[in-house]
Amino acid sequence: MEYKENVLCYEDYCELRESVGWLLFSKEQTQKALINSLYTVIVVKDSQTVGMGRLIGDGMYYTIVDIVVQPNYQKQGIGNKIVNMIIEFVDKETPIGGRSSIQLIAEKGKETFYEKLGFKIIPHEFCGSGMRKVIRK
Ligand SMILES: CC(C)(COP(=O)(O)OP(=O)(O)OC[C@H]1O[C@@H](n2cnc3c(N)ncnc32)[C@H](O)[C@@H]1OP(=O)(O)O)[C@@H](O)C(=O)NCCC(=O)NCCS
Repeated sequence: MEYKENVLCYEDYCELRESVGWLLFSKEQTQKALINSLYTVIVVKDSQTVGMGRLIGDGMYYTIVDIVVQPNYQKQGIGNKIVNMIIEFVDKETPIGGRSSIQLIAEKGKETFYEKLGFKIIPHEFCGSGMRKVIRK
């Protein structure tokens, strides 16, 4: 199992999303989004890409997106390692005396996976609910 940074390509991205039943975005949007990623991780086993994760953000606020482990390879610690690599990237980028916030939207039922990695469910005592608006054309 090999973990590679910043080499996530369009084909692997689409295949992995489809492997877990997620809809795709348009090709143009996807290619732009991949270029604009701050940091990506892929996991390669026997020349096949079996996992990915992606980080977007501006140096203060970061969002984790597209955490996918191909179904045949789930429950082997791969997802955990991908997210930990992303957290480590943000940790290194955060200056002494600074502060970074990493957000994400968990799929329904996947909250425990992220809680084990140190994420807190919102709302909680200091935060209201996460909110989202989707634009479709
Ligand atoms: C969610 C997902 C990324 C987890 O990846 P994975 O490689 O199977 O997870 P890991 O094996 O690294 O599991 C890490 C820990 O989280 C737990 N976990 C994994 N999937 C879980 C789930 N669906 N519900 C609750 N806990 C889960 C594991 O039991 C493990 O706990 P442990 O360390 O105490 O043993 C993977 O199931 C997946 O790709 N699912 C489809 C896409 C998806 O939902 N992505 C997340 C979007 S928010």
